Amino acid sequence: MHSLGVVGLVAVFCTTSARAAFTVAQNYQGSSFFDAWTFQNGPDRNSSSNVLYQTREQALQEGLVSVNAAGHAIIKMDNTTDGTKDPNFGRPSVFMLSNATVSAGSLVIMDAITMPFGCSVWPAFWMQGPNWPNNGEIDIVENVNLQTNNRYSLHTASGCTHPPADQSPASMETGQVLSTDCSTTGANGNQGCLIQDPSTNSFGAGFKANGGGAYAMLWDDTGIKIWFFPRASIPADASTNTPNPSGWPTPTAFYPSSSCDTTKFFGPQSIVLNINVCGSFPESNFNPSCSGKCQDLVGVPSNYNNAYFEISYLRVFTSKSGSGSSTTSGGTAAPKTTGSGSASVIAKPATIFTILATIVLPFIGGYLTVAL
Ligand SMILES: *[C@@H]1O[C@H](CO)[C@@H](O)[C@H](O)[C@H]1NC(C)=O
Ligand SMILES: *[C@@H]1O[C@H](CO)[C@@H](O)[C@H](O)[C@H]1NC(C)=O
Ligand SMILES: *[C@@H]1O[C@H](CO)[C@@H](O)[C@H](O)[C@H]1NC(C)=O
Repeated sequence: MHSLGVVGLVAVFCTTSARAAFTVAQNYQGSSFFDAWTFQNGPDRNSSSNVLYQTREQALQEGLVSVNAAGHAIIKMDNTTDGTKDPNFGRPSVFMLSNATVSAGSLVIMDAITMPFGCSVWPAFWMQGPNWPNNGEIDIVENVNLQTNNRYSLHTASGCTHPPADQSPASMETGQVLSTDCSTTGANGNQGCLIQDPSTNSFGAGFKANGGGAYAMLWDDTGIKIWFFPRASIPADASTNTPNPSGWPTPTAFYPSSSCDTTKFFGPQSIVLNINVCGSFPESNFNPSCSGKCQDLVGVPSNYNNAYFEISYLRVFTSKSGSGSSTTSGGTAAPKTTGSGSASVIAKPATIFTILATIVLPFIGGYLTVAL
């Protein structure tokens, strides 16, 4: 841990000399991936599902969170416990919230090799403000069961909408508009303003078979834009420390500020990665892709062999020229990031850290497991 801390410190100096519009504010990768998260344990707080989220200590001990030989973060649902004899069985899983928050003027990029899927499985990569729904929720990855098209959504207080489908040309976004009222109490219930990804490689088995890909979310004065890039089409600068989304193609989903004033409906967001099982969303979409009753699957561990994320990195960038309040990189991450937090701010992963990690990781795998 000490040697990585020193790399982090070196990286902070590198950051200050960078001239790019975006600079790295938070980096979750490799051995430090799990350092700056809070694990929410117990049953799911927002759905009556069949999950039992574990504490950080339990998740580490049970192997639900780990770093693999490739240096990728694994976040999984338990697939070894037989719960068939227990009518109240909750399958062990993970719900982790970032300690640092994401504010306006930020770009978030996650590159994953695979994401959880399977009948009854409900994973999500999303963000929420402290006072839900008044501080908003941004869903970057969310779908259920055997679906292969991802869905994007916002959940807000009343007054935030996505433009109607006939005012959402292909030049604005490539996704399909399913619903336009982002309000949690709106006409479409709490499904928010849903956009469906046109690519069958954007979720589930399709995503995995294609080698995964990258998701990016840009929140600035123009609104909230989300991109999905299949593995072969990830922009070359996405994995660098100076990504420039102004050179990227049309986003998959775009929530323009003209119909949703993000300064009013969104506060600082905590990033969430979780894997739920059954509950409202999978159950209401269970058939025809899955058969029988969702709860009948929960006790059988082999149903969860694909219920895991393998993430190569998750990064948050901030723009000094971004909009309004709390956009400086220090200001966003500082309040909740102390001490070892600096180790997760790696400004030059493509150079010194990668070289170090490549050489060191395979040899100190055992040590890293303990250090987590
Ligand atoms: C993140 O917060 C959790 C508690 O909520 C704490 O255990 C952990 O040490 C924090 N991580 C960092 C890097 O501050
Ligand atoms: C989840 O439920 C809790 C308490 O029931 C509530 O405070 C919180 O705002 C809810 N969050 C979401 C995202 O639904
Ligand atoms: C559990 O799933 C993992 C993949 O995450 C797989 O490698 C492993 O073999 C599975 N365990 C069992 C007991 O089938």
